[in-house]
Amino acid sequence: MSTLMPNPTEASRATNTAHKGPQTGVEHAAVVGLQWGDEGKGKIVDLLAPDFDLVIRYNGGANAGHSVQVGDDRYALHQVPSGILYPDKHSVLGNGVVVDPGALLGEIEGLRRRGVRVEDNLRISDRAHVVFPYHQAEDLLREQAINHARGGDSVIGTTGRGIGPCYADKALRSTAVRVGELLDPDRLAEKLRYIVSVKEVVLAALAKQCGQSFEPIDAAQLAKQYGAYGQALRPHITNTATLLHDSIDAGRRLLFEGANATLLDIDHGTYPFVTSSNCSSLGIGTGTGVPGRNLARVLGVVKAYATRVGGGPMPTELDDQTGERIRKAGNEFGTTTGRPRRCGWLDLVAVKYTARISGATELCLTLLDVLSGLDPLKLCVGYRVGGQAIDGFPSDAAVLAEAEPVYEQMPGFSEPITDCTSIDRLPPNAMAYVRRIEEHVGVPVRMIGVGPRRDQAIHA
Ligand code: GDP
Ligand code: IMO
Ligand code: MG
Repeated sequence: MSTLMPNPTEASRATNTAHKGPQTGVEHAAVVGLQWGDEGKGKIVDLLAPDFDLVIRYNGGANAGHSVQVGDDRYALHQVPSGILYPDKHSVLGNGVVVDPGALLGEIEGLRRRGVRVEDNLRISDRAHVVFPYHQAEDLLREQAINHARGGDSVIGTTGRGIGPCYADKALRSTAVRVGELLDPDRLAEKLRYIVSVKEVVLAALAKQCGQSFEPIDAAQLAKQYGAYGQALRPHITNTATLLHDSIDAGRRLLFEGANATLLDIDHGTYPFVTSSNCSSLGIGTGTGVPGRNLARVLGVVKAYATRVGGGPMPTELDDQTGERIRKAGNEFGTTTGRPRRCGWLDLVAVKYTARISGATELCLTLLDVLSGLDPLKLCVGYRVGGQAIDGFPSDAAVLAEAEPVYEQMPGFSEPITDCTSIDRLPPNAMAYVRRIEEHVGVPVRMIGVGPRRDQAIHA
């Protein structure tokens, strides 16, 4: 399966093995979503992993849901990197990740029950931040409180996993707990004692505004529970920045796995309808300690159409039969929350923008099979606001909400393509669609997904 992808690294790898000392010429790569998530990053990481030694998550947490399908076996990974199915690879949670330790232990247990090896091959940064139940409570209450105060439903529509409040605490510092601190029971108990006293004030006020009752938090019990999680995770916890630097020096190959996606990036996405981390490839440096100069390849994953979960503008959204058809054919229901995903035509204005932000060197076009039977196909190649064409992708979500897509129509293809194993077996209209995408975005399409399984991918 590793042969499905082009392998420009082979030549340099052969040269590198002759090097002595740090292997600076080894090519490391990243897989990053270029839309609003769920582009099929898990599958691409799973396909690429055999060519790498470590797979590293650098952002997000349990808000991610990455599916990997091996034959009829389907895995939904949330916090564990998608490389875990290869027992000889290291799977790493970098310092930029927010870890929900209870959920992570559940995920590890679920994988072990299915025969997946999760031992010293999983490493967790001692600098990563810990998500507590009060973060999840605050996540849900904040959305309700804002909604209530606005008198509308223009909320972000978070996954409710406590992601935003945990990253907020990271920025606030004094109310944050890092994974390494779970290992010292006394320090943890003391910290949670005063953190919980502050959280209770905030949560009680939010609950009151939402007309809900508030259950006080037992800080000592929480410290006991999270201290136990820390002990259970102890064998995995380490200084991952050192691990990654040592690995680079030893000539090992690193594959970074983006969670969420570039349009959800807190700085460069459709703010405020974003998540709370830098999920573009720009987050790799801060989220792992590995500087960007080490990155040779950035694989931008693009779904052949558009989807979005939660609130926020989506110019090409189809609130009609075609949207419903795409949702059904693509099984577009959230891997994490089960929510139906909003569906629409592929937005090339957005993808051209995100390919630049994430520095995509190649594109992986996934779920092309879902478009089979739709005729014509539409591609958004521009926006008009107030009747005027605008340049590029707006930075203000309110402007994006006003944007009317300018479409180019292309003839569709009716043949099912899920059994296509080579590029020359793709219908000409499907191929023309792929070529138009790379032409507009200015980045070559190197892989095309024609089904969820590992083997349903073709090298372009
Ligand atoms: P991720 O969050 O980017 O990893 O994507 P998800 O796993 O949340 O969602 C992608 C969905 O599409 C999953 O159900 C995958 O199994 C599925 N998938 C991935 N690639 C393809 C493809 O090429 N064709 C089809 N039909 N499904 C795919
Ligand atoms: P993967 O890695 C799709 C969306 C949520 C919400 C917004 C903020 O599977 O592609 P958060 O809980 O992060 O505060 O929610 O971001 N979101 C995702 N949408 N796929 C994801 O991850 C997402 N991660 C966050 O739906 O709109
Ligand atoms: Mg997903």
